[in-house]
Amino acid sequence: MSNDSLQLKDKNIIVGITGSIAAYKAATLTRLLIKQGAKVKVVMTPLAKEFITPVTMATLSQNTVLSDFFNYDDGAWNSHVDLGLWADLFLLAPASANTMAKMAHGICDNLLLTTYLSVRCPAMIAPAMDMDMFQHPATQANIEILKQRGNSFVEPETGELASGLIGKGRMEEPEKITEEVIRFFQSKKKLQGKQYLVTAGPTNEKIDPVRFIGNHSSGKMGYALAEELANQGAEVELVSGSVTMEPKHPNIHLHNVTTAAEMFELSKKLFPTCNGAIMAAAVADYTIENTANEKIKRQKGQPITLTLTPTKDIAEHLGKIKKDSQVLVGFALETTNEEENALKKLRNKNLDFIVLNSLRDSGAGFNTDTNKISILDANGEKTTFPLKSKYEVAKDIVLYMTEK
Ligand code: CTP
Repeated sequence: MSNDSLQLKDKNIIVGITGSIAAYKAATLTRLLIKQGAKVKVVMTPLAKEFITPVTMATLSQNTVLSDFFNYDDGAWNSHVDLGLWADLFLLAPASANTMAKMAHGICDNLLLTTYLSVRCPAMIAPAMDMDMFQHPATQANIEILKQRGNSFVEPETGELASGLIGKGRMEEPEKITEEVIRFFQSKKKLQGKQYLVTAGPTNEKIDPVRFIGNHSSGKMGYALAEELANQGAEVELVSGSVTMEPKHPNIHLHNVTTAAEMFELSKKLFPTCNGAIMAAAVADYTIENTANEKIKRQKGQPITLTLTPTKDIAEHLGKIKKDSQVLVGFALETTNEEENALKKLRNKNLDFIVLNSLRDSGAGFNTDTNKISILDANGEKTTFPLKSKYEVAKDIVLYMTEK
């Protein structure tokens, strides 16, 4: 293999190893990464050294293995900050439940954890543990936190575990992890120099100074899409209604709005320079005709009437001004006649494709961490995906968009 065809040429990778039977696989993983041209530095937790020796890992990585905060022979400080600046990827394989729990909560009582908190590069995590530990709500909650912060995961396989049980928890094979690492570096570059608009969350239409008409949108799907686009190198203009999250990635530029009218104005302004837009917001179709300046007082026993007037359709407007080079993606959350309604929206709004989720599918729609989608394109062609976390769904949507 010539040097130029090496897929990880000049990539600096920290391989983090925790205390797990699967630690032996880190040896093959390190060899495979180096074979592809990567420079590898290994950091081990104290327990990891009980499973595989630092001598083995130092020989394979061609670098000193780091595990302690300082060198016991000469007192020299092992700088996790320098290590963090050096790395292009922090690859944790195998990742134990204990280390992931500490990472999720910012605990840093060993060098591997201080390194994780110091790195400026993305982290990829390959869990390895017994199936019951993996499925435990505490572990799943920690994984969700880490995913929400933009860490990517190499899902463990289902198979025979060290405990003798059969289930999900076996660390993925080194060959597969290496493929993921290569894909990560390839996809990272894919959207470099591109700019996307994402709308997310609910809009709130003011009734009076203390009340509004809103909806159940949590913004999770839109934020996951923004995160995925940014992970792939794009600059993201995120126009967001009121949600409880904050975007983490430096490429995401947040524009907070409250009402449908504000979302319309900002989206209209930002769209012309963008390569595309994903309309994930749950925009109010109606707003209050006359917002009351003072709190509306209760009229005992008397009904009151609020007059609602239509808002402007943001997606429809962008569909009208869209250039051929721009891609426009919409969402349709339906309860009946799903496909028919979604296709109608796609055509009326001049979308390139529409992401359909049905409230009839459990685990899909508002306020869940998961989603089950189908994608319909302008030719009516349908691609269906299984129930996944919103972060995985975001990856599917972005992949579909960039490969179309
Ligand atoms: N949308 C928008 N502006 C609006 C209403 C909707 O940009 N004023 C976008 C949504 O972000 C979504 C798509 O249009 O991408 C479809 O939204 P949805 O609420 O499902 O459809 P509506 O066109 O509002 O139709 P209906 O509420 O009758 O189903």
